[in-house]
Amino acid sequence: MQRIFSGMQPSGRFHLGNYMGALDNWIKLQKDYECFFSIVDLHALTSSFEDTSKIQNNVMEMAIDWLSAGLDPEKNVIFVQSHVPEHAELHLLLSMMTPLSWLERVPTYKDKLQQLGEMGKEINTYGFLGYPVLMTADIILYKAQLVPVGEDQAPHLELAREITRRFNNLYAPVFPEAKALLSKAPVLPGIDGRKMSKSYGNEIPFGSSPDELRAKVRQMITDPARIKKTDCGHPDVCVVYKFYDVFSYPDTQTVRNECENACIGCVDCKKRLAEHMVNVLSETHHRRMHFINKQDYIKEVLEHGAKRARVVAQQTMQEVKQAMKMW
Ligand code: TYM
Repeated sequence: MQRIFSGMQPSGRFHLGNYMGALDNWIKLQKDYECFFSIVDLHALTSSFEDTSKIQNNVMEMAIDWLSAGLDPEKNVIFVQSHVPEHAELHLLLSMMTPLSWLERVPTYKDKLQQLGEMGKEINTYGFLGYPVLMTADIILYKAQLVPVGEDQAPHLELAREITRRFNNLYAPVFPEAKALLSKAPVLPGIDGRKMSKSYGNEIPFGSSPDELRAKVRQMITDPARIKKTDCGHPDVCVVYKFYDVFSYPDTQTVRNECENACIGCVDCKKRLAEHMVNVLSETHHRRMHFINKQDYIKEVLEHGAKRARVVAQQTMQEVKQAMKMW
């Protein structure tokens, strides 16, 4: 059975971009692969090291979201990154052999520095630059072959493969080169049309109630060229249409025709989408309500997951040290 690793940062509320871009895929994959899924709290420190007061709560919320969405803690190893210290150990060893230039040329590095700088957040740190090295350690610690992620993580995966090759060439062929597995919605837009992201404030939280969902759909931007209801619309530039598609509305062709021929106005079109999304997400919403009151159970799941992860992580670290002749 092939092995999968993926992770998510507990840096604020889990949103529909994370869900449709990654988690929905994880849920489908859990049947056929041996999966390790980690709440990567050390990664969250790279951008919120100054205020760590919310991380623990965000970790719990994320675990609740994952279970509510349908991740099975029996089938998968679900754990918190910092509970398995081998992630930090391997990260340190990899950082010795990763050229600085490889890290500086990662496109997301400069983009995010600039983006956060504009918001008055200074993260010109050693840890932030080394973010993809920690990601590499996460993946190869479990010798994962596949990594289900959204498209924004693809450059990090490329770098992880380069670092893996370098380790294998320098010491011994210990690790497979992991490949990205993209979902049906590799980039889900937010309500303003840019990539859905907590840092843009355009996200739809995963645990939204039906009324919150309806309100978010009402705010979605539509085809800017369609000013009057009688103007013909262009579904391909409309956020609402993208959501019809991603949320697998049974008859997107009718929606397209109605929009292109001005048979339906944007207000009604949004109402119909909202009800469809409320339906699709209602089960997870109910499960979320259930898990919110089961904090002890969630903690047990995470402790059990960390124990299972450590068995594999410790074995890999032994091989790493042997390969590096440090043991
Ligand atoms: P993070 O926490 O930013 O995002 C978690 C997952 O959600 C996907 N995603 C999206 N997909 C589609 N549309 C969007 N608008 C959208 N926003 C987020 C991301 O692609 C990701 O799959 N560095 C990672 C976490 C990580 C990791 C790893 C992932 C740490 N170690 C090892 C894979 C393997 C991150 O920050 O994801």
